[in-house]
Amino acid sequence: MKDFESFRQEETGMSAGIVGTGSALPARVVSNQELERLVDTTDEWIRSRTGIESRHIAVEETTTSMAVEAAEKAMKNAGVTADEIDLIIVGTVSGDMHFPSTACQVQKEISAGNATAFDINAACAGFLFGLAIADAYIRSGMARTALIIGAETLSKLTDWSDRGTCVLFGDGAGAAVVQKKEEGILSIAQGSDGAGGGALTCRDRENSNPFMTQAMMNTDPDHTHMNGQEVYRFAVKTVPVIIEKALEKAQLGPEDIKFFLLHQANIRIIEAVARKLGQPAEKFPTNLQKCGNISAGSIPVLLDYVHQEGMLQKGDKIVLAGFGGGLTFGAAVLIW
Ligand code: ACO
Repeated sequence: MKDFESFRQEETGMSAGIVGTGSALPARVVSNQELERLVDTTDEWIRSRTGIESRHIAVEETTTSMAVEAAEKAMKNAGVTADEIDLIIVGTVSGDMHFPSTACQVQKEISAGNATAFDINAACAGFLFGLAIADAYIRSGMARTALIIGAETLSKLTDWSDRGTCVLFGDGAGAAVVQKKEEGILSIAQGSDGAGGGALTCRDRENSNPFMTQAMMNTDPDHTHMNGQEVYRFAVKTVPVIIEKALEKAQLGPEDIKFFLLHQANIRIIEAVARKLGQPAEKFPTNLQKCGNISAGSIPVLLDYVHQEGMLQKGDKIVLAGFGGGLTFGAAVLIW
């Protein structure tokens, strides 16, 4: 057990930052043309309405196996050992088990015995919310080295006969190692709108205990339901506002930012946010074309891509921004 009190004394007030990234995608790639054979849709409809061309779908992989692969790559990239990890947070809505949590399963697989591990459900904003918790833990001295993962197997929550949703989602995981850093996370702004949560839902297994009447029971597994237009309006309205709020806290303007890494749900949402912020589309890298919407995995998978491609230089200022079921939304401003 670590003596948290001792390093709270030493290190309170330190800033936290991302020091390594990793990602994992399933081997099976499913094209829009394959979906044309499953439901009444076309490649042209999917591309023009969403920007998505293909997605990775888990066949052999699980949420935990992808989370572990992404975590191991992030640790290698950061140059940290499993023993150093003292906090593991997994953002997911599609873990393999109700319990143990995905985070505890990752802890076991990577042998990070010194860590406190738990999952959070903030849907597509899960990675950002996890980053906010890690930032608070590190700044307060409660943790030194955190592993933040967004991991999803949305394909198991998808109704593969519903053309309105099955074309949108993909599976995968992304991870980041967060440690104290002189300059790292400059600001985070977050929010939730529970009242709007009905726009994007997936019910859990319902209660069917022996004290209920047969008529009360509904044990059919549920799938993802979405009011696409409502989610679209929510995203286009909320994401620019939360980004501006985070920028204001960091005392920066959008022109100071090299890249805006947004949740990869729909190219039209990303383009609308860019317009509202008055920034060129080139500042908004995307991978939704090849990954679809990976919910909590979306931002860290994109961040790892941008990092591995060498697009980030030390000192670059970037924004991460997500929105999703809950409804949840958030943005972080970082110095790389
Ligand atoms: N192929 C062909 N036609 C389709 C498909 C499809 N895959 N899906 C829906 N349609 C049809 C509809 O049935 C409808 O037909 P109708 O006019 O005969 O009734 C027509 O296309 C228009 O449907 P809309 O839902 O109005 O289409 P819209 O232009 O709004 O696009 C979309 C739908 C892409 C879902 C859009 O609303 C959107 O991007 N919403 C944002 C939500 C989002 O990105 N969600 C991702 C998950 S949420 C998250 O990540 C948190």
